[in-house]
Amino acid sequence: MLEKFPPLRAAAVALALVATTAAWAQDRVLNLYSARHYQTDEALYANFTKATGIRINRVEADDAGILSRLKAEGAASPADVVLLVDAARLWRAEQDGLFQPVKSAVLEQRIPPQLRGGETAQGAQWFGVSTRARVLVIDKARLKPTDVDRYEKLSSPALKGQICSRSGSHPYNLSLFGSVLETAGTAATEAWIRGVAANLARDPKGGDTDQIRAVAAGECAVAITNTYYYARLMRSNRPEDKAVVERTQVVFPNQADRGTHVNVSGAAVARHARNRDAAVAFLEYLASDAAQRMLADGNNEYPVVASARTENPALLALGRFKAETVPIAKVGANTAQVQQMLDRAGFK
Ligand code: FE2
Repeated sequence: MLEKFPPLRAAAVALALVATTAAWAQDRVLNLYSARHYQTDEALYANFTKATGIRINRVEADDAGILSRLKAEGAASPADVVLLVDAARLWRAEQDGLFQPVKSAVLEQRIPPQLRGGETAQGAQWFGVSTRARVLVIDKARLKPTDVDRYEKLSSPALKGQICSRSGSHPYNLSLFGSVLETAGTAATEAWIRGVAANLARDPKGGDTDQIRAVAAGECAVAITNTYYYARLMRSNRPEDKAVVERTQVVFPNQADRGTHVNVSGAAVARHARNRDAAVAFLEYLASDAAQRMLADGNNEYPVVASARTENPALLALGRFKAETVPIAKVGANTAQVQQMLDRAGFK
């Protein structure tokens, strides 16, 4: 059982499985295009190199930059592995033919089916490697958790002028709204999006942390945010961050029904990868318990592998929650339709 081995051993086993190919002997470098840029990822890559002797040559850019670079490079692209940080972008890359399917017993066993990309006869197009929940942060003085215990309540007239959100068409929101669409259907989702847009306290601006700070500053009563942004504030020693956390509270929506929306950071083998075997070995390494912990903790995220446990104090303090089980690939696929609804609702 591969997952019982310590991570270095697991990667070494993965190496042994493919060491017979001629290409392997020549290629000791893996080209990684990554939209992740967290310091703890360094240790993650160093451990892989230590175990396999394969150096990781990293190209860092944001998701949009990586997608346009892969497209521009075409068949000449040196990319072997691609790491992106949102279901909408992973879906877009898959649609654009930038990945190739991977069939791996290790990945199939360890990564839950709802956290993988489009399944083909040759395997899935990408695999989630960490998750983040999209939650609500309230001003404790203005709202009770029950006021926003379902995403559906965000369109309630009682919340008029009280919601802070980043751009509606930011991929994190596209994915959240795409998950609502998957359960609520077209008409209800469009009406809901109109309601949320009508309840905004201000025109969308800034990132998720800005929305949390706006709640603490009294500009709005509730913000939509990914968990890791709040966890970062929880772990901060700055007095102004402590004050934000003191005044606010996280609500995990839809605990009594379908669960809170979770998004993924995902990895794929690039369409034109020259080091395919090493790329698959790297993906399998990312699914090891130790790599999972590093991946998740580096950005205050949750592991995707059930046996991997987080020791992140902020996430432990936020507690366990029920996550949705809607396939994240479907959520990604819904985002094109969601964008049209946002345009009609004027939710920029
Ligand atoms: Fe982010």
